[in-house]
Amino acid sequence: MAATKNRRIGLFDSGVGGLTVLKQMYRRLPQESILYFGDTARLPYGTRSQAEILQFVREIIDWMLTQDVKMIIMACNTSSALALEILQKEYDIPLLGLILPGARAAVRLGKRIGVIATPATAASNAYRQAIQEVDPTTEVWQVGCPEFVMLIEQNQLHSPYTRQVAQEYLQPLLEQKIDTLIYGCTHYRHLEHIFRVILPSAVKIVDPAEYIVMAAEKELELMGIKNNQPALATRFYVSGSSGDFAQLSRQWLGYIPQVRCHKLHIPVEVREQELRIEN
Ligand code: DGL
Repeated sequence: MAATKNRRIGLFDSGVGGLTVLKQMYRRLPQESILYFGDTARLPYGTRSQAEILQFVREIIDWMLTQDVKMIIMACNTSSALALEILQKEYDIPLLGLILPGARAAVRLGKRIGVIATPATAASNAYRQAIQEVDPTTEVWQVGCPEFVMLIEQNQLHSPYTRQVAQEYLQPLLEQKIDTLIYGCTHYRHLEHIFRVILPSAVKIVDPAEYIVMAAEKELELMGIKNNQPALATRFYVSGSSGDFAQLSRQWLGYIPQVRCHKLHIPVEVREQELRIEN
């Protein structure tokens, strides 16, 4: 069993969003060793179809299994909303998603809940369903925010345009006088400085990243596979440019990570573009 405890936990996202989950892992489960994968060659996920998300996530899980992980955390709401339930039936390894932990936390805090998310997550209705299953008297408004992920990945965190877009996305939720806001995409905590200014101070913010890590801790304890040795250094892999990811991540990690490139089944046109850039 000691050998299982020492194995890494796989954590993936389309890009830097999963770092908000990684940071919670460092805070709450510092003894766990992590394998991080960002599918940067194929982001954003939030405008993809369910069939595409399923294909991408299967590829990531299959690769992570070859890396001998003991658990996989979908640090991506879009994957959690569109693929988790289906893939939990296909794989033996513990697979965790963000929606239920986030929904349960929100229900404890409020009655008028706003969710900002990628268009795919908002359209899936996953948060509304999960919240109303716990408490049918809660009202839920979900807003798809197509521009946020690319603005974050392009490091436009402080641009006036990003502030303006945030104001527009939050407006319908402000009009509904929400008392609680869920970050329905792991990238969004990177814009917290903007949301705090726009939202009335009474509005509580739920970051499901915090709660998925608590769920992971419970699961590790239940299965008897929580590590009790010092963690190994996090291993970072991306499917796109390792240099870009390393530079962008630095502001959240506090150091420049060593990032390796791992290509999955990237569509032909993306491979061709990359080859042109490399030449
Ligand atoms: N950060 C992911 C999520 O939580 C994916 C965002 C995207 O690539 O569109 O939904």
